[in-house]
Amino acid sequence: MPHATAGGPGRIHGDGSVTAHAPAKINVHLAVGPLRADGFHELTTVYLAVSLLDSVTAWPDDGLSLTVTGEGAGGDVPTDSRNLVWQAAELLARHAGVRADAALHIDKSIPAAAGLAGGSADAAAALVALDALWGTRCTRGDLAGLAARLGSDVPFSLVGGVALGTGRGEQLSPSLSRRRTDWVLGVAGTGLSTPKVYRELDRLRATGQVAADAGAGQPDDVLTALRDGPDATLAGFLANDLQAPALELRPDLRAGLAAMTGAGALGALVSGSGPTVAGLVEDADAAAGTADALVAAGAFRLAHAVHGPVPGARLAG
Ligand code: C5P
Repeated sequence: MPHATAGGPGRIHGDGSVTAHAPAKINVHLAVGPLRADGFHELTTVYLAVSLLDSVTAWPDDGLSLTVTGEGAGGDVPTDSRNLVWQAAELLARHAGVRADAALHIDKSIPAAAGLAGGSADAAAALVALDALWGTRCTRGDLAGLAARLGSDVPFSLVGGVALGTGRGEQLSPSLSRRRTDWVLGVAGTGLSTPKVYRELDRLRATGQVAADAGAGQPDDVLTALRDGPDATLAGFLANDLQAPALELRPDLRAGLAAMTGAGALGALVSGSGPTVAGLVEDADAAAGTADALVAAGAFRLAHAVHGPVPGARLAG
């Protein structure tokens, strides 16, 4: 029988289910270093968790099963062991020495393969929900270790807020920055494969089309501007080394970036490996107005008005 632990009593609902939410992220700054022997790139990034949330619900059951509704359901998002949520369940069960028994459901608002760490958010939410459902009493440190094994962005999805990521992105230094910033996320019709974008960056650097030492540089200015403002200064420091390869693979994103600034964003960049375009705007009203204008103009399939920072994966009340 499940019993309440980390989430406390009351987090397990009357039907025995537990729900956790986790946020999308924007890389406000992403500097990609050399390719490592393990196939990952050394990087320095400033992560910002934003108010576009997925939720994962877990019920007691025999064996594992997974269903998905919302963004990417029936299409890009697998419902078997290829899904990071499934892998998170197996990993937590092995770690804790319990049986991987749960029916899992993901309700997705974060688009798949969009550069917003949607799969990572789902994995982080699954770890938190299943820890409560199974009573495995993991510490946040335990969960962070498991998260890093699932993917480079999963530890940040767990922590949320603002953090500096190094290594392959999984080594985090949380920032105390709490200043609210408002953003518009312009979501394209089809996704981009993260490994493909990294490989394209390697190719552009190998052929000299992009200078390896002329990238995003140090994140100090962006961290200061994120904390202290003003937004116009922050806009000038937005930088992403994956933008050039994403634009090479998807030239249509140039129009998306231009549309974002044309609709009033103070600055815009490709989020992570793309293809989502993130635009920094003045406030919530500007975000809502810009998002509506972009969709009406047909610049993006979808546009979300969001803000950050928001907390990482946590149990729903
Ligand atoms: O860690 P994650 O599974 O999200 O990474 C997906 C892929 O993105 C990796 O297999 C690798 O090709 C690329 N990647 C990278 N360097 C990083 C993070 C990801 O090359 N720091």
